Amino acid sequence: MKQGEVYFLHLELNDLNSVQESAREFQEKESKLHVLWNNAGVSWPPLGNAVADSPSASVRVVWTSSQIIDLQPTPRGIDMATVRTPPRDRGLNYINSKVGNCLLSCELARRVGPSRGIVSVTQNPGRAVTNLFRDNLWIECLSYPLLHPPRKTAYTELHAGLSRDITMKNNGCYVHPFGRITRETDIDKDRLVASKAEEDGGSRKAREFWEFCEEKVRDYY
Ligand SMILES: NC(=O)c1ccc[n+]([C@@H]2O[C@H](COP(=O)([O-])OP(=O)(O)OC[C@H]3O[C@@H](n4cnc5c(N)ncnc54)[C@H](OP(=O)(O)O)[C@@H]3O)[C@@H](O)[C@H]2O)c1
Repeated sequence: MKQGEVYFLHLELNDLNSVQESAREFQEKESKLHVLWNNAGVSWPPLGNAVADSPSASVRVVWTSSQIIDLQPTPRGIDMATVRTPPRDRGLNYINSKVGNCLLSCELARRVGPSRGIVSVTQNPGRAVTNLFRDNLWIECLSYPLLHPPRKTAYTELHAGLSRDITMKNNGCYVHPFGRITRETDIDKDRLVASKAEEDGGSRKAREFWEFCEEKVRDYY
């Protein structure tokens, strides 16, 4: 492909066959992945439709979270029972998906960061006027005065994907709007423990969440 051109890659994240197909198409067209932004997300979808440098660092993966996990922290980081069997509480399902992204980011950094040269980072883009609340108009109305133009939240995404301040040294870090790398002391204690490995004083939550996701996609490798 020509440098500087943008191509559309069809992807339906709630259909793992489509994810497999997109990955295959990407591999056919490209020889290298530089940055993967895991940005797609849904908030309060109708029930039943919910599903999503160091010189050696060669790929960066950006996971999109949300301020909601700071505003409504979940006890013990995440409740795996509600991940395995999603409740009718659509807000909690959204929170789980956003905490889950943080856990996956830290686990990816730990598992293959140094060995494969992958830098993994979670970002909270900030609040913006987008289509995110299409299934929950009353939240959109209430939060409207607090929302930024989407361009501003894209800055956080770009910072997480491209900033030279994010390297192997702070692999697994968390970026706040609009590009501030969070100190560990600013992260909710339960989530911090959930995101760490057992040998570093963490719980098994990140590993448990990773293995849960691995099981879901096992047939699509
Ligand atoms: N807006 C905010 O205030 C805010 C705050 C915190 C975090 N976030 C996070 O920011 C990210 C982007 O959201 P946004 O605010 O830009 O909302 P948005 O306007 O609704 O954009 C979401 C994007 O995700 C795509 N998507 C959703 N489900 C998909 C699926 N199953 N397969 C493929 N693509 C899918 C949508 O594609 P289609 O349009 O084709 O459906 C759309 O392009 C989300 O992860 C969200 O949780 C947003």
